Amino acid sequence: MSCKVLMAAAIGALSGMGLLAHGDEALPEHLRDTGLFVAGSNSEVRPDVLPFSPQYPLWSDGASKRRWIYLPPGTFIDASRPGAWEFPNGTRLWKEFRLERRVETRLIERLADGSWQYATYVWSEDGKDAVLASREGAPSLALSGPQPRTYAIPSESDCRACHEGPAVPVLGFSALQLSSDRDSLAVHAESPSSNEVDLRQLVERGLVRNLPVSLFKTPPRISAASPTERAALGYLHGNCGHCHTNPGASDASVPLDLRLAQDVADPASTEKVLRSLRAASSQFRAPGTTTAVPLVAPGASHDSALLMRMRARDASAQMPPLGTAIPDSEGLALIARWIDRDMHPSTARE
Ligand code: HEC
Ligand code: HEC
Repeated sequence: MSCKVLMAAAIGALSGMGLLAHGDEALPEHLRDTGLFVAGSNSEVRPDVLPFSPQYPLWSDGASKRRWIYLPPGTFIDASRPGAWEFPNGTRLWKEFRLERRVETRLIERLADGSWQYATYVWSEDGKDAVLASREGAPSLALSGPQPRTYAIPSESDCRACHEGPAVPVLGFSALQLSSDRDSLAVHAESPSSNEVDLRQLVERGLVRNLPVSLFKTPPRISAASPTERAALGYLHGNCGHCHTNPGASDASVPLDLRLAQDVADPASTEKVLRSLRAASSQFRAPGTTTAVPLVAPGASHDSALLMRMRARDASAQMPPLGTAIPDSEGLALIARWIDRDMHPSTARE
């Protein structure tokens, strides 16, 4: 038998077993086989899998989340580019979504060839098992329980739309997100539990190497004129910055001059975000009008396209365009406070 035929036979057998549902490397059918839990358990996390929580989390319609990372033994993250960490092949990250119960657990894995694979596992109602979802996701999964609701499992292309905007697709495990100088005004931030890793511990344990010494001595912190501005910029970074990354870059995922991402390697990050908010000409027209509204109108949040798009939940206007069906009232309040008070025209800096 030729090699090709053998390969075809092997692939046939694997897909028969349901192991080739996604990318090029086999994804297990069950979450319990992805290496998150100790053998025989579907809740006890393996001791070599480390929990973490980003200080500026993504709003997902009120779902609570837990997150973990696994690095293969002897490997480390190279932080020479402090804003774009290089993760070793074999890295796995998981994120669990819980409403009244566990609903899904997402997985990102860096494969042996350096490419990234995305998958999600949907929990059974009794919480005993989580099974690989199809690449198409499930736009309206019915959740029963005391408050029945529908829930959207994203497709693989949705995963990529958010995760592959920046240079590195890991979004919540970064110098800024894991800084020990945590922002006490950050909205929806879980307080980290005692066993969670932060930037300092990761460096001390040799799991993150080549981080510029200055960022170890002075943990990253968004530069801002006030505590409200710091939290607002953090919110925009965590919820919007993965798409509104780096205007002008040839590979920018969104063709707009709007930059909402922070870069710990760039001391002028905040200035760049503020400048793009002031200067970028908005294409957005409020419903029923023909004149474009500014992205931000200092002192007048209700006239600012930024806030209108965050509040909208119709497909043509909502921001973010994916991953949410309910506006984030706490996030909206924070951004409104920032535009109305901190950006008042009379006190605005230029
Ligand atoms: C609306 C944008 C969006 C979509 C869609 C999305 N993610 Fe994410 N994801 C994020 C952001 C932002 C973070 C980091 C902040 C957080 O965890 O709260 C994140 C975090 C994660 C993490 C933890 C590691 C990390 O990057 O911080 C995993 C694992 C993950 N997502 C997997 C997935 C998978 C798999 C899919 C598709 C099934 C998906 N995500 C769809 C935005 C998104
Ligand atoms: C999944 C990628 C993605 C995410 C996440 C995202 N955006 Fe957008 N955004 C886009 C795209 C694409 C456009 C251009 C098309 C359009 O206007 O709908 C856009 C346009 C905009 C515009 C209009 C700019 C103009 O010139 O009119 C604003 C304002 C905006 N986004 C704000 C936000 C805010 C605030 C967040 C976070 C709360 C966010 N976006 C998150 C992809 C994204």
